[in-house]
Amino acid sequence: MSNKLDTGIKNARNVNRYIFGRGAIQQLASIVSSRRNSAKDQVVFLIDEFFKTFPEPLGGLPRQGDDLVIFVSTRDEPTTDFIDALTEEAVSKGGREACAIVGIGGGITLDTAKAVSNLLTNGGHAADYQGWDRVKVPGVFKIGIPTLSGTGAEATRTCVMTNQENGLKLGMNSDHTVFDQLILDPDLTATVPRNQYFFSGMDAWIHCVEALSGSFRNPVGDAFSTQAINLCRDVFGGDEMMSDESRAKLMVASYLGGCAIATSYVGVVHPFSAGLSVVLGFHHCVANCIAMMAMEPYYPREYREFVDFVEKNEVHIPKGVCIGLVESQFDALYQSTIIHEKPLVNALGVSFRDNLTETRVRELFEKM
Ligand SMILES: [Fe+2]
Repeated sequence: MSNKLDTGIKNARNVNRYIFGRGAIQQLASIVSSRRNSAKDQVVFLIDEFFKTFPEPLGGLPRQGDDLVIFVSTRDEPTTDFIDALTEEAVSKGGREACAIVGIGGGITLDTAKAVSNLLTNGGHAADYQGWDRVKVPGVFKIGIPTLSGTGAEATRTCVMTNQENGLKLGMNSDHTVFDQLILDPDLTATVPRNQYFFSGMDAWIHCVEALSGSFRNPVGDAFSTQAINLCRDVFGGDEMMSDESRAKLMVASYLGGCAIATSYVGVVHPFSAGLSVVLGFHHCVANCIAMMAMEPYYPREYREFVDFVEKNEVHIPKGVCIGLVESQFDALYQSTIIHEKPLVNALGVSFRDNLTETRVRELFEKM
């Protein structure tokens, strides 16, 4: 911490309860039944569409009566319209009176569950709550069950979504967005494709690398980041990134990485990654990895470690993604990168624009 600012922590909110361990999903039934009472007993399940075809890992849902199961498309990252449409679907089937909402899936599904839960009790539209502390009352009791590790969505107080009308990519940053209950069951990540497993896992590692390299620091965020990085090293530098032990470790790293970004800030990678998502439509985790391949000037040691992870685990990072783009697309990439002031100040200081000129930013995108 020698030359770093100790930012302290502003009254952080954590997940209320969590269960961790292989087979933990079997406890969903008792948790759900403890929420039911005769007046309000409907449960809304929001589930990654992957499990529509492969439901076996979930071991059967504790469904009854008016319970609602909605499969969430993960083709695109959530938009405010998408959240509104799912909320309407839930409301049309009595969802406002639900006693619990259960999100089962990766970051997209977990964020969707958090957002729909808030909207069911607060009313209005998703766009009304984009920003900080705009959610007025607690949402429906939220249960999160990650089936992919790395984004930290299970731990954070936001749920990322894009408002396509104004291009704003911003979540409902609120204490009410935090899950009330998590079920962390590493058996649920056994069927994830290897590339996707790597990209998502790297999101946790990148969050923590960026946080530890920044200037807005505090000992709590540093502790979460350091331990998450250690776990990621075991997983991606070890013999088999998807062994039972590795999947358990990565699930914990993801949770700790989520706690880390809730108490500190990211750096240069995430703004560039956001540019790739907004302009070229790449999903967050693969976009991070694409961006990381051009980050040697900013994170030289971490860049080398990242390349080692990629080679050791034989994963494929898309390359040449900006070849053939036109001037207006490079301009859009620049604008959607440079807009992320807080992380860029964290990484490069208040005069970050002196370093990240339009020419420089374009050179970096051309390296990806
Ligand atoms: Fe991220």
